[in-house]
Amino acid sequence: MSESGYDLYKSPPSTLYTCLYFYIPVCAFIVLLCLYYIFLCTLQAPVQTMAEGQPSDAKGAVLMASDSLPEGTPQVRGYDFNAGINYDQLLQSYMYTGFQATCFGQAVREVNNMIDSKLSSPGGCTIFLGYTSNLISSGVRESIRYLVQHKMVDAIVTTAGGIEEDFIKCLAPTFLGDFSLRGADLRPRGINRIGNLLVPNNNYCLFEDWVTPILDQMVLEQDTEGTKWTPSKMIARLGKEINHPDSVYYWAQKNDIPVFSPALTDGSLGDMMYFHSYKNPGLKLDIVEDIRRLNSIVIFAKKSGMIILGGGLIKHHIANANLMRNGADYAVYVNTAQEFDGSDSGARPDEAVSWGKIRMDANPVKVYADATLVFPLLVAQTFAQKHSDFSSKKVEQD
Ligand SMILES: NC(=O)c1ccc[n+]([C@@H]2O[C@H](COP(=O)([O-])OP(=O)(O)OC[C@H]3O[C@@H](n4cnc5c(N)ncnc54)[C@H](O)[C@@H]3O)[C@@H](O)[C@H]2O)c1
Repeated sequence: MSESGYDLYKSPPSTLYTCLYFYIPVCAFIVLLCLYYIFLCTLQAPVQTMAEGQPSDAKGAVLMASDSLPEGTPQVRGYDFNAGINYDQLLQSYMYTGFQATCFGQAVREVNNMIDSKLSSPGGCTIFLGYTSNLISSGVRESIRYLVQHKMVDAIVTTAGGIEEDFIKCLAPTFLGDFSLRGADLRPRGINRIGNLLVPNNNYCLFEDWVTPILDQMVLEQDTEGTKWTPSKMIARLGKEINHPDSVYYWAQKNDIPVFSPALTDGSLGDMMYFHSYKNPGLKLDIVEDIRRLNSIVIFAKKSGMIILGGGLIKHHIANANLMRNGADYAVYVNTAQEFDGSDSGARPDEAVSWGKIRMDANPVKVYADATLVFPLLVAQTFAQKHSDFSSKKVEQD
């Protein structure tokens, strides 16, 4: 240790020493404290200002004055259960409830417009109904059968499952199950699952027993009488053979309602035709004749309306046919598909307007919903309410 160092630490504090090691640090500390306080005050300043007054730009943003809405703009109001339980009123209130309930209300209006046009004059409006296969597996089949039985629609498009499941249900029932039932548990038991529905595999064995002799007969008629089979003719033939009032296609052939299914092989029917082709080869189904038949119905329609439940083939096949007349006049879609992936299933009606498949002056509606929830209610508010009008029209025609 140096002598000077010893002096600094051991000798009594001088004025310089006091300044250096006491006053300057204390003053610096006080200055820093003041700066910190000023900083905090700056942060709180706007809060204090808002509490004291109201900044004019914030007030202007929050309390901006509105333009008045056009006269007659509907007000949002739901059903009041103080009025008791009135299902008709409840469903009518959907129009003013908002969101998909309002779309349902608009779909009711659009279908009623179709029906009014159809009933207004002979051939007033040709109504096309399309639905995916699973809807025939579900209880929506009974709503569809009602429409076909009473000749409320004019042409149908569905997929293969939508045909065979109707006949299979006449042979043996489909059961309710659960979405969570495991495939690996069901498969060894020969139980097939469609969502929360269960179809025993035996049902398909019954179907094979029923359909194979009909396929034999069709081959015979093709070979001996020159019958040219198409999917729609085959469906009508199967409808006649099933001869069962629960069947959609029994009523379709009885009421001359053509049923189109251009991909008729994509289901159990295809499996049966495949096996049959080894046993008794040669059956031909002409899809070109069917597209001529479908497009001709569209071309000669005075007005055209489409009710399409679900997406995929059934949606596009009806919409594409309507291109032949520069678009349908009325359209209602009910499906769960979204448009962000560019799928035709998810496309809103406006996309079909761009293609000329729906008219530019039409008021088409898309309801985003499971058709099992929506379609029976839609029928209840439209076709079923006009049952007697349809009956008297049918009597006139007969
Ligand atoms: N029971 C069956 O589903 C079944 C049986 C046998 C064969 N197949 C075959 O599977 C193929 C695909 O069937 P698909 O073309 O009939 O339709 P799909 O089941 O593939 O459905 C197509 C689209 O329709 C919409 N959709 C389906 N169900 C709906 C519902 N309940 N509510 C609202 N929207 C709904 C969805 O957006 C879906 O992506 C077809 O070739 C069919 O023959 C189906």
